[in-house]
Amino acid sequence: MQEQLAAIVNEVETALVGIKTRPDFEAFKAKIVGGNGSLTAVMKQMGKLPKEEKPAAGKLINEAKRKIEAAFAATLAAIGDAELAARLGDPIDPTLPSPDDFEGRKHPLTQTREEICRIFSRLGFTIADGPELESEWYCFDALNTPASHPARDMQDTLFMPADTVSKDASKKADEAYVMRSHTSSVQIRTMLSGQPPIRIVAPGRCFRRDTVDATHSANFHQVEGLWVDKKVTLKDLKSVLDFFVREIFGTSVETRLRPSFFPFTEPSFEMDIKSQNLGALSGRWLEIMGCGLVDPKVFENVGIDPQQWTGLAFGVGLERIAMLVHGIDDIRHFYANDLRFLRQF
Ligand code: DAH
Repeated sequence: MQEQLAAIVNEVETALVGIKTRPDFEAFKAKIVGGNGSLTAVMKQMGKLPKEEKPAAGKLINEAKRKIEAAFAATLAAIGDAELAARLGDPIDPTLPSPDDFEGRKHPLTQTREEICRIFSRLGFTIADGPELESEWYCFDALNTPASHPARDMQDTLFMPADTVSKDASKKADEAYVMRSHTSSVQIRTMLSGQPPIRIVAPGRCFRRDTVDATHSANFHQVEGLWVDKKVTLKDLKSVLDFFVREIFGTSVETRLRPSFFPFTEPSFEMDIKSQNLGALSGRWLEIMGCGLVDPKVFENVGIDPQQWTGLAFGVGLERIAMLVHGIDDIRHFYANDLRFLRQF
């Protein structure tokens, strides 16, 4: 019996190596432990043995059964693994990049803002910041903007009710607050917090009571620029802004400064550009920003001596630049969060 059992164990272990599928496995298993199986036949012999031989035989049979069951279990597990792998296809390598195009990217306005800041940083400008909820003084008075100016009208600017604002400890109770209508307020904050020479750009969000359409949004962005130094001239203004637009629109772009008015600059200009690379807008003069030399009144308001210091300032609309660069015809695309739009940049 010992030899018979050894032969069966040997047969099982050898045969299982070649068995790869569940039906083959089941058929083979039946040949060993089924009703007419070889191991079953040996076990049946037990009953015929003399009583004193039974314990030893039982022990041998149990040992053989344990080995055979372990071999069956291992084969079954291997078959299960193979079946799973076949269902899943190729082995998975979690370190490979996803085949789907789900990589994140920066919003076109963020890209444009970073590009503008990068260009001015090459001219020695650093980044400055200011609050979006701003006191009327920073937003208008200090910028020499009189009470009669239309921007001070409730219809143009989002004035905040005093009771909402005074809850914030950093705000003064007796001042009027507005959602800033431009980033020019950062000029004032910067000049009050440091001494000239100053060279900053201040990107940020602005708010106006505009009715939304293809070119207007109640919520938009600007990049403000301010350079205060000894003997800053119109020539500096023109060269700084020419450098900027050439970096953005290419060296073939033409520029002009068209006389204009802003309360905080004197003289004041609108800068226009003309380019042949702007699709439907090619070949036309397009207004892209306000600029000028800092009005001496503004220096006086922040305690800087206008006899000693001069300055240039400019304010450019971020959406305007991004729309021109990318040929975008509707400002509302920027805020719609539509991936079909955002994935194009
Ligand atoms: N703050 C102006 C606006 O929102 C833009 C502007 C014009 C900014 C002239 C300036 C400037 O710094 O010098 O319309």
